[in-house]
Amino acid sequence: MSVVTEVKPRKAVLGMPEYHPPLAGRDALRLDFNENTFAPSPKVIERLREVTAEGLTKYPEREPAERIAAAHFGLKPDEVLLTNGVDEAIHLVCCAFLEEGDEAVICTPGFFMYDVSVMMMTPNLRKVQADETLQFPFEKFVAAITERTKLIIVSSPNNPTGAVVSREHLLAIARAAPQAVLMVDEAYYHFHGETTMGDLSAVPNLLVARTFSKAYGLANLRIGMLAGNAALMKYVRKVSSPYNVNGVALDCLTVALADEDYLAWYVEQVRVGRERMMRGLDELGVPYFPSHANFVLMKIGPKHKELVAAMRAHGVLLRDRSADPGCNGSVRITIGIEEHVRIGLAALRSSLEEIGWKPVEVNVAQQSSDGEREFE
Ligand SMILES: Cc1ncc(COP(=O)(O)O)c(C=O)c1O
Repeated sequence: MSVVTEVKPRKAVLGMPEYHPPLAGRDALRLDFNENTFAPSPKVIERLREVTAEGLTKYPEREPAERIAAAHFGLKPDEVLLTNGVDEAIHLVCCAFLEEGDEAVICTPGFFMYDVSVMMMTPNLRKVQADETLQFPFEKFVAAITERTKLIIVSSPNNPTGAVVSREHLLAIARAAPQAVLMVDEAYYHFHGETTMGDLSAVPNLLVARTFSKAYGLANLRIGMLAGNAALMKYVRKVSSPYNVNGVALDCLTVALADEDYLAWYVEQVRVGRERMMRGLDELGVPYFPSHANFVLMKIGPKHKELVAAMRAHGVLLRDRSADPGCNGSVRITIGIEEHVRIGLAALRSSLEEIGWKPVEVNVAQQSSDGEREFE
């Protein structure tokens, strides 16, 4: 018999959306979640072999790894917080800065965890929709900022579009909202190379988030980083658990940061692979949004579900982004190492043929007409 409870959560919890990414049955070539498709630095694996039983019994100490990460990025230790992935950084920033009546501004289509974490604190989430190019709508975005805006989150490069926001535009957004925190999500920084990390000391309301899930290949360890001036970071640190990141992840991070050659190799694989993928899509006649990240969003049209199923049958996972606002008929493919790009493209060629896909089926103007959101 199931227990019936009269206990209700906060109103915001009842109203917030849920995020259920399709994580089941991923025993195939993972071109669906923008992870590193191959491996972290081999030095990380060596470090994992050194994990001891006694070591696992100890609570993790975050500060030593934080000092190493801060030095690595040219920051002071009190300007850095290591987090349980950028997901936790987003959550902590929302907890630290958003009151119930405050407004937050994001761009859509974008990363769905922003919706979840913001709406946990306030229903006033302003979503600024990109036009059919899916480029960042700078003027519209600035116009959505009001005196009640307390948090702005901008991802550059953006997921799922692969579009970027220039440093000049980001700094202009920070200036337009001095009462608000601007969190720049640089989860895909390595695949583009432009950052606002160097502006942290001059811009008093700027936070920058970096993940180690993508280029570094540590998604399963759950580790990310939030950086900002010491005054802002003090508030975020206050709402964080002292044990938010496990000790194995902390140890592995320091090793991964030191292996710069490995990181450079992986990033180059993706940069070359991305060009190859975009050229391959051109040859196949598949329209796509030019990407600055480790994925490409393709415009498949009404056969988007059929394509994802056909690719799965070929052992390759893709992510259907059709339910994202403005992305009707769109499917995202992750770019990994050379071999994985080759397999992905070959499977794509076969799958498009099998489902009888024709370029003419894509009508961008009809986008977002059947935009039922699945929250994946
Ligand atoms: C834009 C963006 N930010 C953050 C994340 C989450 O990163 P993490 O694995 O560090 O939680 C993702 C993951 O897909 C993402 O696309």
